[in-house]
Parts: sequence; C-alpha cells; structure tokens
Amino acid sequence: MRRILAIMFVLACFAFGANAQQKITRITLDATNIQYRIDKNIYGQFSEHLGHGIYGGIWVGVNSPIPNIDGMRKDVIEALRKIDVPVLRWPGGCFADEYHWKDGIGPRDKRPQMVNTNWGDVTEDNAFGTSEFLEFCKLIGCQPYITGNLGSGTVRELSQWVEYVNSDNESPITDLRREYDRDKSWGVKYWGLGNESWGCGGNMTPEYYSYLARRYASFMHNYGKNKLFKIACGPSGDDYNWTNVVMKIAGNYIDGLSLHYYSFANDRTATDFNENGWFDVMKKTLRMDEYIKKNSAVMDKYDPGKRVALVVDEWGTWYKVEPGTNPAFLYQQNTMRDAVAAACNLNIFNNNCDRVRMANIAQTINVLQSMILTKGDSMVCTPTYYVFDLFKVHQNAMMIPTNVETSPYVFKGDSVPAVNCSASLDGEGIVHVSLCNVDPDSPEKVEVDLKSITASGGTAQILTASKMNADNTFQSPDVVVPHAFSDFTVSAGKVEVSMPPMSVIVLALKVKVQAPPPIELKNPKPGLNFGYYEGTWTFLPNFDELKPLAKGVAAGIAIPSKNSGENFGVEFTGYIKVPKDGSYTFYLNSDDGSCLYIDGRTVVSNDGLHAPEERSGYVMLNAGYHKIKITFFQRGGGMTLDASIEGPGIARQQIPAGMLFREGE
Ligand code: AHR
Repeated sequence: MRRILAIMFVLACFAFGANAQQKITRITLDATNIQYRIDKNIYGQFSEHLGHGIYGGIWVGVNSPIPNIDGMRKDVIEALRKIDVPVLRWPGGCFADEYHWKDGIGPRDKRPQMVNTNWGDVTEDNAFGTSEFLEFCKLIGCQPYITGNLGSGTVRELSQWVEYVNSDNESPITDLRREYDRDKSWGVKYWGLGNESWGCGGNMTPEYYSYLARRYASFMHNYGKNKLFKIACGPSGDDYNWTNVVMKIAGNYIDGLSLHYYSFANDRTATDFNENGWFDVMKKTLRMDEYIKKNSAVMDKYDPGKRVALVVDEWGTWYKVEPGTNPAFLYQQNTMRDAVAAACNLNIFNNNCDRVRMANIAQTINVLQSMILTKGDSMVCTPTYYVFDLFKVHQNAMMIPTNVETSPYVFKGDSVPAVNCSASLDGEGIVHVSLCNVDPDSPEKVEVDLKSITASGGTAQILTASKMNADNTFQSPDVVVPHAFSDFTVSAGKVEVSMPPMSVIVLALKVKVQAPPPIELKNPKPGLNFGYYEGTWTFLPNFDELKPLAKGVAAGIAIPSKNSGENFGVEFTGYIKVPKDGSYTFYLNSDDGSCLYIDGRTVVSNDGLHAPEERSGYVMLNAGYHKIKITFFQRGGGMTLDASIEGPGIARQQIPAGMLFREGE
C-alpha cells in the first residue's frame, strides 16, 4: 500500500487505558495527482485443467442434466457475468506446458486422451479445448488469455495455435478451423510464453528461458488488426534476478511479465485455523506490495516508461485440501480470512496500477482461492467472490493516490498495518474507496480527508462476519455476503467510517472534483487551426519558435495529406467542447512523437522517435470549451497519428470533428 505509515496508536491507547474503540486510521485522497487508470484486467481470473476447475466446474457436457449452454454450466456463467470478469487465463498453470492444443479440437469423441501428470495422473479426455474455452469466454463476456507451451511443445505448434485462433488467411491451419469450428477467427490478444519456466514449466535458468521466449515470440504473428500482447514467464515472488535477466534479454520482445505469489498456509485446511493462522496469512499476503514494487523497480531499469506490464497471473491463498478430497485437486473452502486477503491484494494491485495491468486469481472454480464451489448440480459463491463483486467498481476507473496512517494490528509481538485502502474516480464522477480492516479483534475509526474533492453524499457496502472462519456452504450459502452499510458520515471534505473488525467496506461517494472552468468562446467555428513545419527532430520542437510552411483549418486531427514524407511536424490548436462535467481520458497513438495539452497542461506525452505506440492521460473537465493543442512530428519510416477520447457518456472514439472548434474572426 502506498506510503502506509503504521503509527503506534494502539500502544499509546493501552498506555492511557483507552479501549480498542479508539484505534484510528487517517487517510488522505490526493485527487490533484491522478495519473493512472486501474486496468480492468486486474480483476482477471485463472482456470486450469486441474481437479474440478474445468470438468464439473465449467464443463458438464452437452448431455448433462445440469442446466448448461453447449456443455457449460449456466449457474456458473450467470455468477461470473455478475462480477464482470474481464479476462480469463487458461489452460494452465503447470498443465499448459504439457498441453498440445491439437488434442483439443475437432469432434469431441475423436479427441485423444492424455494423462494429467501434474494434477493427480487423471485421464484428460480433451472435451474442453480451444473452441470450448473461447466460447466460454464469450458467454461470460471476458477476454481470453491463452498460455502457450514452451516446456514440451514446439515453436511451430505455438505459432500454429495463434494462426488457428487469429488468422483469416487461407492456409491448411485455418482450413482446419473452418472444418472443425468456425469460419471467422476469434482474435485473441493475450498470450503467455510458458508458465513457471523456472519450475514445472521446464526448470530453466532465466538466461535459457529468455532466449527461448524470444524465439517463440518471433513466430507468434499478428493477424489483421489484432496485435498480440505477449506475456513472458516472470519471477516467483522475490526472485529479482529472474526479472532482471528476462527484462535484459527479452524485454524488447514482450508486452507483459508475469509474477506468481501465493499466501501459503498449507499445514491446515481453509477453515481449521485460529488467530495464528489468520495473522500468518495477512502477513504473507501484504508482502505482495513489496514484491510488486521491487520487481517493478528492476523493470524500470530497462523500461522506465513502463511499457511492459507486470501481470500477476497467479495469486491467492493456498491451504491443505478439504478432508476426503484428492490432494492433487487443490480443493479448498473459502472463509472471511480469504475475503480479507483478496481485498488486501486488490487494494495493492489498484495502488500499483502504473505497472500492474493484469492479475488473475488462482483459481476461478473449485481450485485454491475460488470464486465458486460446485458439487453436482449445486453451486455456492465464496466470500472471495463477493470481494470481487464489491471491487468491480474500480475497473477502468482512475486511481486516486492515497496516503494511509494506520494503527498496527499487533499479534504475539509482531504486527501488520491494520487498515489498507485504494480509491478511484469513475467516468460518472463517483469516487469509490475500498477499505479493509485486517484486524479480527478490533474495530477501527477511519477518517478520510478528501482534499480537493467535495462530497455531497454516498452509499456503502460491507462484507464482514462474526467469526474468522465463517464460510458459505451448499447448505448455508449466504453467511458471508455483502450488506448495505450506514455507519459512516459524509461532510463536504471528510468521511468518517466506523469499521468493524475483519471487514471490507466499499464507499461510493457523489463528488465534485475541482476542475478548470470552461472558456467563453464568442464566435466558435468548427475545426482546429493547424501549422505545418519541416525540420529534423528527435523530440518535439517548440513550434511557437518556428515559422510554419503552411497554415490552415483541419476538420479533425490527422496528418495533413500534403507532407514531405519525412522530417516534418504539425501543430493543431483550438478548443474542445465537452458535454458534461467529469473525468476525460485522451489517447494518442503516434509514430513518431506526439503530445496533447488541455488548458495548457500536458495530458498525454508520447514524445520521441518510435514505432506506433499509444499513450493515454486523464483530465477532469467542466462542461464547455477548453483549450486543446496537439503536436506531432515525423522523422522517417512509417507515420501514424490517432487521437481518441473517452468520458462521461462518451465511449472511446476518435475525437469527433463535432467537438473541435476555433475562435472565429
Ligand atoms: O495454481 C496451481 C499451480 O500453481 C499452477 O499450475 C502453477 O503455475 C502454480 O505453481
């Protein structure tokens, strides 16, 4: 958590004979320093061919009496749709490096069987293969993320899997797809280059892996407009040497680097624990922040612009399996402890969203820290599911930096910060603050200073329980579920919340964020003024100091058709009219450099010599006219300039001509 200062209030309270009621956390929201968007993919999931993660959990077969859509459980689809799953990783995990995708296509009764050596030597009949997975993603409304086999598969095999899934060309592989599955490609963006290649994925050294990843990545082609997002195997927790070597050797060939970190407590089951077990899991879970920050710092050495995302594609709690279940199936219950651990992790991911742009909890159904447990035709949603439900409001919202001064949760001479939080501002101008009190014994008074935000009211929901190991069972599915929460007050610049012990609270605050007032335009005319310049630059020049070779009015933002092909620049100036008060995101995709300013402030900086690259930035605006300036230069090679906008009531789109104006004579 960002700048958590654990203040020893409790000790002071004890010294003065005060009771635990007086534990206080002070949080400050800094809305003047909003920079990064919380990528919705942070709320991603992971489902492996492991135990009943797929078979029984998702796939029951088309002839099953359990209600299904083309073999996939209806109840599970419905539950996952409710929490807005953005992305799903598949087929593993360790299984991925033994999976040969061609075994999972074509008529199901003709697919070969294999033995799942990683997970209990059970027979895998390959009924759930590529098309079933991609259709499942469509049914739950998420993006697929496929992990390729670098451990026991070939370069050709992975290259052809990409082609089968993404190509609309004529080729023997796409003919196969047309014969077995469908005419049109699916267009899958996210691809993993192996899994845990330092372990079950091949026991490789980082050097060996990095060169292998470069080789596999070279033959994973982009088809049509779909540009692949390639995710390399990253470290386990604090293996910073792995991160360093992979970034050094393969950093230029990848878009993401994975990080795996579990909170292991596998000496006991998920429900069989006392406060030792609670504290142990909280302490291990909160280490995630350190692992992210330190791995990100290593990545900064090679990638200071944070182009490569850190993808925490396996995380969660890991206990001893439930009695009577196959130890290789990793089936565990889920309690209030897991809910609090999930909230801590999600707050950490939100607060580190400059680098963490995807995370995938392990695993969605019936395996480790699941969202859902199934038994025959029954299904139950776990406490962790409800944390994902409460936190989904942060998806794609702008992260508001927070400063937290909290008391410690002290246990047997050791301590962790009692309260952690994250905050965001969504496109409709609502601020969400997610608070988590990890202390199972003491309530906490939380004071939130909103600084530049004025709140006019709000609502809240809470997830808590009367005992640490409270769980949802098939017989009693609603023991740990969210409830409306009212023990908080909102005054203009301040919120006070009384948090019960072991609780997760998400506040939704109606706010007004200070934003520049609109400009009065006397005689607005459509279009922007532009100036065309020539010169040889490595970075954007100051066009105000140069003499334009041509001037004119442009209807929209595009490279003028009359240009010298290389060594030129353009500056667009004028006004943008936004329809509503709220937060607006601007995107610039350019080759070479570009920059976008609103009301004199740099909102998107995409400067320098580079291939097409997209950058975005955010600004709060009040309805009306605001100054806009866009600068662009081209040195040599290809050239691109696209400017898009997203905001309240405006889905992401190219900045439409109808929003652009200049001052008339
Ligand atoms: O999630 C279970 C296993 O944990 C995965 O298969 C593997 O990648 C990790 O070790």
